[in-house]
Amino acid sequence: METLNANLYDFPRYYDLVFGSDWKAEFDFLTACFPKHATGSVTRVFEPACGTGRLMYRLAKEGYDVSGLDLNSKAVAYCNKRLKGHGFAETAFAADMTDFHLDQNVDIAFNMINSFRHIQTAEGAKSHLMCVANCLRQGGLYILGLHLTPTASAPSEAESWSASRGNLCVNTSLWMMDRNLKKREETFSMTFDIYTPTKSFRIEDTISFRTYTADEMSSLVNNVGGFEVAATYDFAYNINHPISVDASTEDVVYILRKR
Ligand SMILES: C[S@@+](CC[C@H](N)C(=O)[O-])C[C@H]1O[C@@H](n2cnc3c(N)ncnc32)[C@H](O)[C@@H]1O
Repeated sequence: METLNANLYDFPRYYDLVFGSDWKAEFDFLTACFPKHATGSVTRVFEPACGTGRLMYRLAKEGYDVSGLDLNSKAVAYCNKRLKGHGFAETAFAADMTDFHLDQNVDIAFNMINSFRHIQTAEGAKSHLMCVANCLRQGGLYILGLHLTPTASAPSEAESWSASRGNLCVNTSLWMMDRNLKKREETFSMTFDIYTPTKSFRIEDTISFRTYTADEMSSLVNNVGGFEVAATYDFAYNINHPISVDASTEDVVYILRKR
């Protein structure tokens, strides 16, 4: 199969199919978190590292006033085109999630699937949390989902899944290349195998993540200040089933409430 070495985020149509199919559980969880954990009413919702905005346009359809940012201009263009296609303002913009501000405060920020771990440095992570805290009103939430590095058990190292829409099918694989817990770095290879009626090819990319143990995440949140941990959940997204984070926890959604 022909292989293209490229940035997977430069292919928003394929990305959106691969990561978009599980949107319902995340959407229901998010909208259940608003009344359960935020104080006051929720109208303005913001997604740092929004990518294609697969959740943003659905939240807009539900009546929320949405906005988002992403470093990748192709993802931003895709997101805005879809918002416009559904009759909403083009409110995604290109920016770095470690250095941004919003003209108007929001009630909720959310970042569901590890995008936060793309930030490679301690300073960047801290700056990101401070930017989010600065754009949230008091009692608002930052809903932050990521994979932790468990210290009491072996972390997962590979995952594969498949998604299709119409004539397009994408098989995805993600596997660990390197983990350096001292440097707090993890490198994964990721492939999209694309099948259409007329062609099939592979896109291959390398993705770097910063690692977080439960303790490292906890000290980051404490160090930034401005947030209290209102609750923690896992990627089952069951609003009736909060979890306690411990040394074996891997997937976690922090509900950070602005003080
Ligand atoms: C796994 S995707 C998630 C997209 C979206 N949040 C979702 O749930 O589908 C990660 C996104 O983070 C973006 N990203 C990575 N580093 C970033 C940064 N420093 N600032 C803004 N966006 C960034 C990438 O361009 C990519 O669109």
